[in-house]
Amino acid sequence: EDIGVVAVGFSGGQGKSGVDAAPSALIESGLLAQLQNELNYKLHGDDKVNAYNDLVPKQDPPYRNMKNPGTVSAVTQRLSEQVYAHAKEGRMVLTLGGDHSIAIGTVAGTAKAIRERLGREIAVIWVDAHSDINTPETSDSGNIHGMPVAFITGLAKEEKPEYFGWLKPEHLLNVSKLVYIGLRDVDAAEKKILRENGIKAFSMFDIDRYGSLPPWPSFPFLVVYGIGRVVEMALAHIGNDTPIHLSFDVDAIDPMWAPSTGTPVRGGLTLREGDFICESVHLTGNLVAVDLVEVNPSLAADREAEANETIRAGCSIVRCALGESLL
Ligand code: ARG
Ligand code: MN
Ligand code: MN
Ligand code: MN
Repeated sequence: EDIGVVAVGFSGGQGKSGVDAAPSALIESGLLAQLQNELNYKLHGDDKVNAYNDLVPKQDPPYRNMKNPGTVSAVTQRLSEQVYAHAKEGRMVLTLGGDHSIAIGTVAGTAKAIRERLGREIAVIWVDAHSDINTPETSDSGNIHGMPVAFITGLAKEEKPEYFGWLKPEHLLNVSKLVYIGLRDVDAAEKKILRENGIKAFSMFDIDRYGSLPPWPSFPFLVVYGIGRVVEMALAHIGNDTPIHLSFDVDAIDPMWAPSTGTPVRGGLTLREGDFICESVHLTGNLVAVDLVEVNPSLAADREAEANETIRAGCSIVRCALGESLL
């Protein structure tokens, strides 16, 4: 089976440096070699990590409250073309980020390619502690990694091509085909957007409560994991044989396993729950793209050990999405 790989060394969607070093750290830890040698995937794409330095404008002042708007727009536009080129050939696309703003490019690229190739709309499963659906106006931080979902769904609109105006209807995701898993730090304005648009979301609370249904009253010793039912419901929501783009923010995983990330939030998914989501999505046979984002090897108190744990978690996520752990 063929996979297009795009390594995106980009950090402009937020303020902390280091997240641009994630793709090379993931690759150096052996991720791509394993996909090739152990899972027998045929990898396509240049081996180098894209830095997109040629796209960074000389000056990039805030626009509509967004930080680095011209840079993020130009980089995600280029990335959308790279992802599109792979997906158009029928390859599954693996994108190694980078901060989560890059999903503007990856989702735009797969949405367009799948429309042209299969005449279908994609669904997106967004696994994250955050909903990343602020509009430029609702965002407190101005960081575009908190806004990608607003742009790819068309909830945030902009005409100017240098500020995401390049996004056309063929790039966009229908809000009814979006589902979240793992949410636990959602801004008040984002909650309003989710509610008003009827967007399907499974928070950490949902994962916990769906784990406490029968048969537990009769088997108090039995641990029933809610993640299985949540994934089932998430897949039911998007429907059978819908092409799936999985966008996985490593901060969905509890900082116990993934501490090296820009905006960690305690009370997250266990490593197993994260892997289980990926395994389940793999089993549908409908996966067309995977993003792994927000691994930041330079953010850690006990730097090396914590960075390595986070990289390990990220590699595990990707390998599970590609079927590694299934018998
Ligand atoms: N909601 C906050 C913001 O808008 C945090 C977003 C964190 N996003 C992420 N991709 N880690 O800035
Ligand atoms: Mn997040
Ligand atoms: Mn917040
Ligand atoms: Mn995110």
